[in-house]
Amino acid sequence: MHLDTIIPIAMCLAIFIALISFIVLPYINMFLKDSATSKEGDPIPTKNGDIFSILNFDGRIAYEDIIKATEDFDIRYCIGTSSYGSVYRAQLPNGKVVALKKLHQREAQEPAFYKSFRNEVKMLTEIRHKNIVKLHGFCLHRRCKFLIYQYMERGSLICVLRNDDEAVELEWNIRVNVITNISHALSYLHHDCIRPILDRDISSKNILLNLKLEAFVFDFGNSRFLDPYSSNHTVFAGTYGYIAPELTYTIDVTEKCDVYSFGVVALEVLMGTHPGELLTSLSSSPSSLQNVMLSDILDTRLLPPRSKNLTLNIVVAATLALGCLRAKPKSRPTMKFVSQQLVACQRPLLKSFPAISLLELLNSELEMENEIEPLPKLSSRPAEYHGSSFKQNP
Ligand SMILES: Nc1ncnc2c1ncn2[C@@H]1O[C@H](COP(=O)(O)OP(=O)(O)OP(=O)(O)O)[C@@H](O)[C@H]1O
Ligand SMILES: [Mg+2]
Repeated sequence: MHLDTIIPIAMCLAIFIALISFIVLPYINMFLKDSATSKEGDPIPTKNGDIFSILNFDGRIAYEDIIKATEDFDIRYCIGTSSYGSVYRAQLPNGKVVALKKLHQREAQEPAFYKSFRNEVKMLTEIRHKNIVKLHGFCLHRRCKFLIYQYMERGSLICVLRNDDEAVELEWNIRVNVITNISHALSYLHHDCIRPILDRDISSKNILLNLKLEAFVFDFGNSRFLDPYSSNHTVFAGTYGYIAPELTYTIDVTEKCDVYSFGVVALEVLMGTHPGELLTSLSSSPSSLQNVMLSDILDTRLLPPRSKNLTLNIVVAATLALGCLRAKPKSRPTMKFVSQQLVACQRPLLKSFPAISLLELLNSELEMENEIEPLPKLSSRPAEYHGSSFKQNP
């Protein structure tokens, strides 16, 4: 064959092969991953025939140690209850304290509860972040099912906010830090995991605090991997008062549902109580917020913030929280944007603190150009944050 004929044919062939590898291979890869999971029927790593498995723990935990430490799950060691189980505090022989969530015997027979329990194991074995409660291990035996977690000394955020003495300990700088911690955890789940994860149940009940009053996201029973290649239809999940409004008319969850729930929790931290009425005003008549001053909605159990820096941090946190509560999911910021904004250095306030209304914050121009992009693209892109993007109305 003549060289003039061979070269174009070879080039066409090369382009064809390149196209095939770009378009088809990712799907083959996905299929292989899926079939690996379905062949196992259960992606949860197991040891000793699904009885007891220890993960990410720097010491030995034996089943007998757990039973001994809690005197066989005696009520005296119980520190909390949830819809499907009880939580116990256990001090191991090496002195380490862990929290155990035990599925009640009756609930263990309920497929929905057991599914949520297993889902938690599956999710927590895949993720690892400073502000997400660590799973040290689990026991999924026929007769006894429990999960072993990192112990959070101060318990849930909702309990701390409800207790006047503890709420006062949660000073303004700590509250801004709590909001930042939660935003980092959610940004990690949405943007930094190999497969993006939707928490689907962010609420002040599902945030724990450690001894230093740092915040940790927990309770992944409802969480889901976000499938970037199809719509994410799912059954209704979440906690009343934190669920994004669009979930009343659609079953297609996006990461913006988590963003909304985060907005509720962030306002709750600043106000010291659930912002129920404010949420109603926001959705029904935002203009009524003209006369609601930010300084008037802050938790009155604390003295008003004194330093300029702290005041600015609170204004930034409130602005972001209100941005997250926007009715249209697409106009809410991404968690990556929120978490970056919370740690970024901001411009000085152009107004005195008591004169800032919620409406002004709601109308603050947030430069959120990355929000339009679908989530999977975000995870592979470097951060696109352009300096100080808050503009206070003069
Ligand atoms: N790792 C932990 N460290 C310390 N305390 C914990 C830990 N996990 C749970 N708790 C305590 O146990 C309580 C119950 O937690 P759990 O997640 O089981 O239920 P919930 O979120 O309050 O309820 P539900 O998820 O059923 O709506 C928490 O509020 C907290 O006080
Ligand atoms: Mg919970």
